[in-house]
Amino acid sequence: MFKASDFGPDFLWGVATAAPQIEGASNTYGKGASIWDTFAKRTGKIKKGHQLDVACDFYHRYREDIALVKTLGFTVFRFSISWSRVLPLGKGPINEEGIRFYHNVIDECLSQGLIPYVTLYHWDLPEALSQLGGWTVFSINADFNEFVMLCAKTYGDKVKNWIIINEPFGFTSLGYMLGVHAPGETGLTNFLAAAQHTAIAQADGGHILRAEVPNARIGTTFSCSEIIPYTSGANDLLAAKRVDCLMNRLFIEPALGMGFPTADWDVLEKFAVSHSTWRHVKRMTFDFDFIGLQNYFPLVIRYNAFIPVVQAWEVKAKNRNKPHTAMGWEINADSFYNIIKQFASYSKVKEIIITENGAAFNDKLTNGHIHDEDRIAFFKLYLAALLKAKNEGINITGYMVWTLMDNFEWAEGYQARFGIVHNDFKTQQRSIKDSGYWWQQFLGAQPRLL
Ligand code: NOJ
Repeated sequence: MFKASDFGPDFLWGVATAAPQIEGASNTYGKGASIWDTFAKRTGKIKKGHQLDVACDFYHRYREDIALVKTLGFTVFRFSISWSRVLPLGKGPINEEGIRFYHNVIDECLSQGLIPYVTLYHWDLPEALSQLGGWTVFSINADFNEFVMLCAKTYGDKVKNWIIINEPFGFTSLGYMLGVHAPGETGLTNFLAAAQHTAIAQADGGHILRAEVPNARIGTTFSCSEIIPYTSGANDLLAAKRVDCLMNRLFIEPALGMGFPTADWDVLEKFAVSHSTWRHVKRMTFDFDFIGLQNYFPLVIRYNAFIPVVQAWEVKAKNRNKPHTAMGWEINADSFYNIIKQFASYSKVKEIIITENGAAFNDKLTNGHIHDEDRIAFFKLYLAALLKAKNEGINITGYMVWTLMDNFEWAEGYQARFGIVHNDFKTQQRSIKDSGYWWQQFLGAQPRLL
């Protein structure tokens, strides 16, 4: 078994979170509504009708939660700034209470000796901007830049590690093509417009931080999945290639100055002609200091002529008798290794941080304890794969667990539990799971009672 020190003395070990998933206080202290606040109020959108009003009540409990991160032995705390908490309408008037809140969170991290990694956009677009068209309209770029500028000027002297966008493919596909995430829009046209403006925002945000924050380390994160063709037949291979263009290549290639991967999938070009800035490769380019990779599963892809546009279909893990998590996501650490290699093969990628990785299981609380052996086994497998990639010379400098504590898992509500700390959503009682204790031991932290 490997040790934490095998990853090197400067390796960053962190936990990742996101504002809408943990904060609560969603319509108080001057915060404006986000698209997730309004989406959750629509019948049938979130399992069991769960809402974001309280979540993990991190807004009131951030001190204890940040202390917990320290207790578990991590050195990095990743969190996001809620755009509509600092700019309730997305632009214009500033909410000073919201500004103060993030000062408090950052100061708490620094006083505990934790490095804050701040995500600027983790999917909670201000509702007021969504009313104007959200990510589908070009004006979103100016609004996003106003938000980035505010954060850079306000927190730039204390925060040096920034993540512009969390999983651009995640929110544009689920929220603007499939309609299962906020704001619930559907269709390829909406998706491609949103994708284009997001690719611009990713780079614009980088340029603003570079200009405003001395010594900033600037990154952005990508969801990624190894795409495995079901058979070696030509149709399956082509279907897999299209999915790879969408899920893995669509946002990193513009960031690296390569434009969208239209050469491998002309549909991207065909649908884009109506968007005047589609070809503005330069504006979508930024020299990121690091990229964040977030991996949860591989996808086995089969050709299916009945699926519009992409003509591809996923063969689920359970139908292939593969081990999977409570989300149905295949546990396959080799695919984690393979996808890291795929992203590392872009010569312009300088540094990789795993900004999310983790698993949901059906945890059982017995006498205040959760014996989540399955989650511990998951981390061991995935860390071994990571170490292998690192030892082969890939510049991987950190790993962040998704996530600190059970929280609002988007359309799944509070049922899907990804935390290494259990949260009782009625009492807000935190209980460290066995996986949390495993991390504490792995990282060599001194046990401390809650
Ligand atoms: C990626 C997202 O960034 C995060 O918000 C989400 O909870 C995890 N995946 C798990 O689905």
